[in-house]
Amino acid sequence: MALDEAQLKARIEGAADEAALEALRVELLGRKGSVTEQLKAVGELPPAERATAGSAANQLRLAVQAALEARGIALRQAQFTQELSTPLDLTAPGTQPALGHRHPASLVLDELIELYWQMGYQVAEGPEVETEWYNFEALNIPADHPARDMQDTFYLEEAHLPRTHTSGIQIRHLELHKDELPVRIIAPGKVYRNEDEDARHSWTFHQIEGLVVDEGISLADLKGTLEAMMRGILGDQTKLRLRSNYFPYTEPSVEMDATCVVCGGTGKLGEKDCHLCGGSGWLELGGAGMIHPQVLRNIGIDPMVYSGFAFGFGPERIAAIKYGVDDVREFWRPNFAFLEQF
Ligand code: DAH
Repeated sequence: MALDEAQLKARIEGAADEAALEALRVELLGRKGSVTEQLKAVGELPPAERATAGSAANQLRLAVQAALEARGIALRQAQFTQELSTPLDLTAPGTQPALGHRHPASLVLDELIELYWQMGYQVAEGPEVETEWYNFEALNIPADHPARDMQDTFYLEEAHLPRTHTSGIQIRHLELHKDELPVRIIAPGKVYRNEDEDARHSWTFHQIEGLVVDEGISLADLKGTLEAMMRGILGDQTKLRLRSNYFPYTEPSVEMDATCVVCGGTGKLGEKDCHLCGGSGWLELGGAGMIHPQVLRNIGIDPMVYSGFAFGFGPERIAAIKYGVDDVREFWRPNFAFLEQF
């Protein structure tokens, strides 16, 4: 049965909105639309009738297409006119863009930098991809030294590696400034290790390195400096302890601990060992010591004239203690509920 063009046009012109118009388009011109079917049917007519029927069907298709297009334009124009005539409330509150804020590790780093800046330190930096020389060798850690295993790491090509600690910056800085002693620097940065992650370890973390070289520097200067820093950042209630340790680039070497935030230094949570400190009651903050004479010699500084101390701490550990966070892996998770608390 032939379709009535006038009737179809009337239906199209009556489409109330764009959705209704689209439904009509599918009904008429879609793959199984009635106009499409009529075009297809032409092929089945006796040859003598095909030409007339074909051109009529085609003309109908074109007319329907034109009507759909015209109605679409009319509908959009009507909507636009209506939008224009709706009064605009210039006093309505705007949408506030989310500004974000500093990461807790950055907050602690900045606070540390500020504290050391007050004590007369400068900030130094080094590359995140370091050579084996600066990361290990120059620090008295040759290839077969067991201290390398403690910083189990990833290797890149040609004796380069993502630095396992910020200690290489000590060497880089002294090489450049050995003729301008004394030096007093801190060096913050990201470091990488092949760690099994747990509440105290993540394979990427920050460190802040410190270095002082001058005439007559002693262990007492180191202790006083570390205590001033810890009092400044954690307050007087946190207890600190220094215990002896071993690093190939310091002699003597010490480890610095602060009381655990979760168990308050008791090591216990009820009957169980505290999960953060593992039952010791202390959290290891980092290492320090008096610079090994061989390290000074490696750079060309006379250890008979100059001495110095160095230290390296993890700001995430300090942030955990300062803010009472019981899992350092949170600092590296995209967890806004956690991060927005700072
Ligand atoms: N580099 C050591 C580490 O990553 C920390 C450290 C220990 C830094 C002793 C020092 C130092 O400067 O003197 O575990």
